[in-house]
Amino acid sequence: MVEMKMPKKKVGGLAGVVVGDSAICTCGLEEQTLSYYGYQIEDMAEHACFEEVAYLLLRGRLPNAKELEIYQTQLAAKRDLPTALKTVLEQIPSNANMMDVLRTAVSFLGNIEQESESYGALEIADRLIASLPSMLMYWYQFHQTGKRIDLDTGETSTAAHFLRLLYGTKPSELQRRSIDVSLILYAEHEFNASTFTVRTITSTLPDFYSAICGGIGALRGPLHGGANEKALDLILRFNDPESADKGIMDILEKKELIMGFGHRVYTSSDPRSPIIHSWAKKLADSVNNPNIMAVAERIDSVMAREKNLFPNLDFYSAVAYHCADIPQDMFTPIFVFSRITGWSAHLMEQRAKNKLIRPNSNYTGPGVLPWLPMQQR
Ligand SMILES: CC(C)(COP(=O)(O)OP(=O)(O)OC[C@H]1O[C@@H](n2cnc3c(N)ncnc32)[C@H](O)[C@@H]1OP(=O)(O)O)[C@@H](O)C(=O)NCCC(=O)NCCS
Repeated sequence: MVEMKMPKKKVGGLAGVVVGDSAICTCGLEEQTLSYYGYQIEDMAEHACFEEVAYLLLRGRLPNAKELEIYQTQLAAKRDLPTALKTVLEQIPSNANMMDVLRTAVSFLGNIEQESESYGALEIADRLIASLPSMLMYWYQFHQTGKRIDLDTGETSTAAHFLRLLYGTKPSELQRRSIDVSLILYAEHEFNASTFTVRTITSTLPDFYSAICGGIGALRGPLHGGANEKALDLILRFNDPESADKGIMDILEKKELIMGFGHRVYTSSDPRSPIIHSWAKKLADSVNNPNIMAVAERIDSVMAREKNLFPNLDFYSAVAYHCADIPQDMFTPIFVFSRITGWSAHLMEQRAKNKLIRPNSNYTGPGVLPWLPMQQR
């Protein structure tokens, strides 16, 4: 056997590797901070609405009042779905994973509203921002109630549109604004796994929808977007803070992961976590469920005490969504409703200065072998 030379330095999971330029987002650039086009996450969560942030991410600047009003109206007009897509959604089984429903719906839309010279990336991005909640809720209500729901809610806020389709009635302002803020927090996060997937696919120059389907697939896993659903499983396992303390110690003893904690880029805190924590608290109070917050906060303090680890956005999002009466398997799809903005921004940035993304591997297989004829194997 001929020995192979072992080249190159190996970097596990590309941690700490800078793989390209981007003007969209700073994530952990200055300690534990996050900004979109220079605007701090704390300011956006305090003062902006999700559509304002979507406009910023897709167009690189904040809209003025008139532009925002027009943009929200334009999005509201793009929420209905083509009949052919509704028919497809009706065919998807009721027990399907909701992320698969979204991936299939986006893929199908790519067949009937194809990207072309006259229907470009920005228009498709707006169309998906407007219609992703409609896709999921049409499928969901068709299978839950047997009804073909009207997707025209008259709501200009994405959060209100989604909640109205879910509840069948107008959400409270607390419910609406909590989800609106969570959409802002989830919108963009630099070269995370799903965004990097979108950029990698984009770099081969396919259509818009192909890249977004890849992003949805990457987000589905529990180490990425799927963590918010798993975090709720964990929190609901415990009836009180004392049993949570003991239970987390047992899990750590077994060296298992606690979902909703830790981060690849942030080292001591996730700047989004205190924001969603405060909204989760308000929602828990509003449904008179202080226990869920007490359990979650105890898990948080055990993780700090035992592992020096902090909650990421997914941990208290799980509490917030649960207290907003959102079904658990919709948590990661809500992430998609939001992250479509960041993915689209990165897709357009990648196209504007494209270079095929094609790294190398560190080969660990055998050296060159003599060919083995069939009879000798
Ligand atoms: C986010 C995450 C994937 C980052 O992973 P990473 O950068 O590869 O970090 P590592 O897995 O190398 O973690 C470093 C150490 O902290 C531990 N650790 C990290 N996150 C942990 C968690 N959530 N629970 C328990 N231990 C954790 C690891 O076991 C490892 O310990 P070791 O050095 O003794 O082996 C990881 O923290 C994780 O799996 N978290 C849970 C899933 C989650 O919440 N994902 C959403 C991310 S926004």
